[in-house]
Order: sequence, then structure tokens, then C-alpha cells
Amino acid sequence: MTSIPLCLPDSISPEQFLSEYWQKKPLLIKQGLPQLIGMFEPEDMLGLALEEDASARLLTQAATKQEGLPQWQLKKSPLTEADFDNLPEQWTVLVQNLEQWSPELGQLWQAFDFIPQWQRDDIMVSYAPKGGSVGKHYDDYDVFLAQGFGSRRWQLGKFCDKHTEFVADEPIRLFDDMGEIIFDEILEAGDVLYVPPKLSHFGVAQDDCLTFSFGCRRPNLMQIIDSLADVATNDSDLFIPMLLPQTLQPSGELQADSIVAIKNQLLQMLQSERGDDIIRQAVSEVVSKRQYDALVPEEALNTDELIQALADGATLQADYSNRLLYNRTDDGIAVYANGQRLDGVDKATAALLMRLADGEHLQSHDVTEVDPDELMEWLENGWIWVDYAE
Ligand code: SIN
Ligand code: CO
Repeated sequence: MTSIPLCLPDSISPEQFLSEYWQKKPLLIKQGLPQLIGMFEPEDMLGLALEEDASARLLTQAATKQEGLPQWQLKKSPLTEADFDNLPEQWTVLVQNLEQWSPELGQLWQAFDFIPQWQRDDIMVSYAPKGGSVGKHYDDYDVFLAQGFGSRRWQLGKFCDKHTEFVADEPIRLFDDMGEIIFDEILEAGDVLYVPPKLSHFGVAQDDCLTFSFGCRRPNLMQIIDSLADVATNDSDLFIPMLLPQTLQPSGELQADSIVAIKNQLLQMLQSERGDDIIRQAVSEVVSKRQYDALVPEEALNTDELIQALADGATLQADYSNRLLYNRTDDGIAVYANGQRLDGVDKATAALLMRLADGEHLQSHDVTEVDPDELMEWLENGWIWVDYAE
């Protein structure tokens, strides 16, 4: 199915990782992602940070903390070459959403196929010269920190919580005290460190260093509630006023009983089959939304070139800077792309989109039944990309 081996030590199965480590414990995976070695040089990432459409941040750190002044400075994109003049010794540049710029890098998500695609956020790179770091901090999400170039020393400390205090007046969330250091190792290119949410971590570049963060995400309840409202807007039955029992009450009061009766009807609806449908759709729309605006592809193929490329052995693969997912309903398969359910998809097409969403590489013979114009549309929408490498 996929050509990239899973990023786990030989001794740990995906099931074991999910039950013992995921969201619980860090894990060092020596040479977990050897494909990263030599894929990029620091110069490539510096170039990317300067692109007009990049989501980049330049973080500089003064050598010493002066009373009353922040020690760190943060500049967000657009970044210019001038921003890189006269930098202090310690700095880091971060670029988000690298899948948009390199589908080959995006494909490395397949090494984490034990994490559902909808829980993946994006790949971020940090470039820092020797000594650079983003400080001691924690993240709310799981992250796989993969060393791509040079080496970085990683220290892990205590788990944080909402009471953890950050250093005041700095432009980023960081703290001084990581508690007891439970891990202290230097990662070389190809090594990967899994860090669960809220675990304090601190990575310092040992030399010119590129670290790729494969970051995860999960929706929050507010996003789901918001999406429920959007989906429900299209359900005319829900606009019919409710019938409520009436008791004699002061005319100015909205009584708790009435609120309970309304809440019960709301919960009943959510727990009915219709509720299942609305919730399924609301969740699917939220988790299939892309985080970053799509970039216009630089040079699109035309239909003949696409057919030729496939005939020459190229494959079609899901483009992980977009979100393609499916779920099973009583009526069949619902496919979602970038926050929207695809209507009017026939069974055969849905089956192909499912295979793509699952990470399969489709070859010419897999798509003979599909109208090439439809494939072109998928390509133009950014759901897929053409890999000439195989
Ligand atoms: C880094 O690559 O320096 C920071 C990544 C992280 O701490 O999440
Ligand atoms: Co972090």
C-alpha cells in the first residue's frame, strides 16, 4: 500500500505505540526517518522563509536578559533579506506548512500512518545556527521532531498544565524551569523524537541545523459547536418552534424548568439518528478543513500531459497540504475535501478517493474508468499531485 516504512523502532508495534506512548510518553526513534537525510539544505529553507506566501517566523534571542526588556524578538512573515542582516548570535527561523511547497516531504507523513490523516496538522521546519533554539516550552499537541540536517540536543522535562507560568513579557510562551530532566540526547539527521502534548522540551542546535516538526491537531469543542450550527442551518425541520409544557409562572421569568425542557429536546435531537448525521457532518467538515490557504500551483499539467505521465509510470497521490477524508454512513460513503462534502460522487469515484485518502499511490490502470477531466479537477483542486519518481 505505502512505500514508506513506519517511523517506529523495530521493537514497537503501532498498537503498542498508540497504547503506551501516544499522548503519554516520549519516544526516541533512531533513524526513524532516514528519507530526510539530504532532502534539504539550510539554504533551501532560508529561501522558503523569504517567499511572499510563506508562513514564517524569525525568532532572535539577545545574549543576555536586560531588566525590563524582552530577551526574545519575534518577526512574522513576510520576511525580507534585511531581516537577516545583523542578527544576534542566536536565532531561529520557522516555516510552517511545508507540504505546500514540497509534496515529496508531505509524503513522509506516511511514515506516521498509525495516526489518522485528519489528526495531522502540518510539517514545520526550524533552521538555526549553532546555539539557536526556541526556548523551553511545551505544546498542546503531539509532535514528532525529526532531524533533517545537522544535529540538535533535546532535553525533556516535566509535564506542564494550565498552572504552568510563562516568562512575562516575552513574545513567545516559554519558561525557565523544566523540572527534572528525563531525557537528554543529541539527535542526528534521520533521528526522530516523539513528544506528547504538554511535555516540556528544549532543543538547542549543535551546528547548522534543520529540525522538521510533524505536528498533530485535534478539534476543540467550540469548533464542533460552531460547525453544528452551520450544518443545522440547512435542516429546515430544526426551524420549527418547539412545543413546551407550560406551568403558571411570573410573566417576567424564564424558569429553569423551561431551560431544562429545551435542553432535553436538544439532547434528544443530538442523540437521534438525525443528530448522528448532523454531528458526523459537522465533525467531518471541521477536521477536513485546511489550516492554511491554498497556494496556486505554479505550473499545472494539461490533460494530455497527465495521461502521458501516467502512461510513463507516474503515480497519483493525495496531496497532504490538502485534506481528503471519508466516512461511512448508512447511505454509503461520504467524501470530504477541505471542509466540504463532495456531492454527486459515484461509487467507483468514491472508491478511488478513499484509496487516495488512505495513502495509496494510484497508477494508470487504477484510473482507466475515470474521466481525465475529473482527474484534472482533482489536480487543480490540489487534492492530488503527480509523482514521477516511481
Ligand atoms: C524547533 O524545531 O526548534 C522547535 C520545535 C518544537 O519545539 O516544537
Ligand atoms: Co515545541
